Amino acid sequence: MAQDSSRPDFWETRYRDHVTPWDAGRVGRNLQDYARSLKPGTRVLIPGCGSGYEAHLLAEAGCDVLAIDFSSAAVEAAQKNLGHFADRVRLADFFAFDAGAAFDVMIERAFLCALPRKMWAAYAARTAELLGDTGVIAGYWFFDENPKGPPFGTSPEELQALLGDAFSRIVDAPVADSLPVFAGRERWQVWARRRS
Ligand SMILES: C[S@@+](CC[C@H](N)C(=O)[O-])C[C@H]1O[C@@H](n2cnc3c(N)ncnc32)[C@H](O)[C@@H]1O
Repeated sequence: MAQDSSRPDFWETRYRDHVTPWDAGRVGRNLQDYARSLKPGTRVLIPGCGSGYEAHLLAEAGCDVLAIDFSSAAVEAAQKNLGHFADRVRLADFFAFDAGAAFDVMIERAFLCALPRKMWAAYAARTAELLGDTGVIAGYWFFDENPKGPPFGTSPEELQALLGDAFSRIVDAPVADSLPVFAGRERWQVWARRRS
């Protein structure tokens, strides 16, 4: 198996072989609650969308969702799961796609922890760029000290150092319905763009 998780073939192999321990088959309760707070028309980006459960929920809620993944197997699965919202899913690289206007919200679920740590600074810069001056990142963050991954864990201090220049953390809550691979080591957090 390919070992570099910055490459699409790493993920492609796992989806094709059905080795997907991160795939919940459902949307977590924190995100379900958060989705209810979003106004219809909210422009939402879901990077590394995988099978697309979050994209389906938010499209049903009336959000203007764009879900992207750079694995074609993931995109196929997400398009199948999204049914008549399949056109909201696109094969694209988070770091390179042409986003057009800024997004209001970016959903984080097992995306940062999928990236090698050497890419995290680029993730933070790209996220700030995609969210313009007023956007929000909402999602699940994986806290763990194991140097090996994926999933690659962070610490509260490291996440603050990564996001704190551009964002302020406005929500920090426990997660009660984690998958075994994340259990006891993930939190639901919302970070809002700092005004410059
Ligand atoms: C651990 S999986 C999580 C998938 C989904 N968010 C979930 O929770 O089920 C990480 C996903 O990120 C995708 N990915 C990794 N790097 C990417 C990039 N640069 N651009 C787009 N997708 C990427 C992978 O293909 C994979 O589907």
